[in-house]
Amino acid sequence: MPPSNSVKDYIRTIVDFPHEGIMFRDVTTLFADPRGFRMAIDQLLHPYAGQQIDKVVGLEARGFILGGAIAHQLSKGFVPVRKKGKLPAATIAEEYQLEYGEAVIEIHDDALSPGEKVLLVDDLLATGGTAEAGIRLCERLGAQIVGCAFIVDLPDLGGRRRLEALGIEVHALCD
Ligand code: PRP
Ligand code: ADE
Repeated sequence: MPPSNSVKDYIRTIVDFPHEGIMFRDVTTLFADPRGFRMAIDQLLHPYAGQQIDKVVGLEARGFILGGAIAHQLSKGFVPVRKKGKLPAATIAEEYQLEYGEAVIEIHDDALSPGEKVLLVDDLLATGGTAEAGIRLCERLGAQIVGCAFIVDLPDLGGRRRLEALGIEVHALCD
């Protein structure tokens, strides 16, 4: 692919994955490209310049790749939110509905402290179920969400409206 200044150009679409009717927006091609990946991390951070962020929370699985790079760039800590049963120490959990199915996510119960300011990161916002569950986990630990940052927003699925209705600031690099 020729070099591009648009993150969108590095994302490919896989039709009927993981189920018939789903157009899967695959960001692995963006992550694999050095120019694309750096551009994505820089653009995700841009809206938060000058804002206090104490921890970056990444949602499994692709939020770990983005969140790790962002936390490194900010010289802040990274906290994973994982699918049920994966975190080794004591956790709190939230159930949620997906575009295709149901799931439970967890965070270590000592991963955030009351008052800490959190940037929540994931690759894609669809219905907003995953992000809302992640927000609830952070808020149950007393943290404050500074914003939620995504590479892709699928506007037809209503995730942005859902998070903004909770008073959460949402940034996405493309629709
Ligand atoms: C995808 C994506 C988000 C979530 C968005 O993850 O990475 O985390 O779906 O959907 P929502 O806004 O409707 O909740 P997926 O559940 O496929 O899990 P994975 O990252 O482990 O593959
Ligand atoms: N998660 C939920 N819907 C998705 C989609 N269309 N592409 C990638 N990840 C998703």
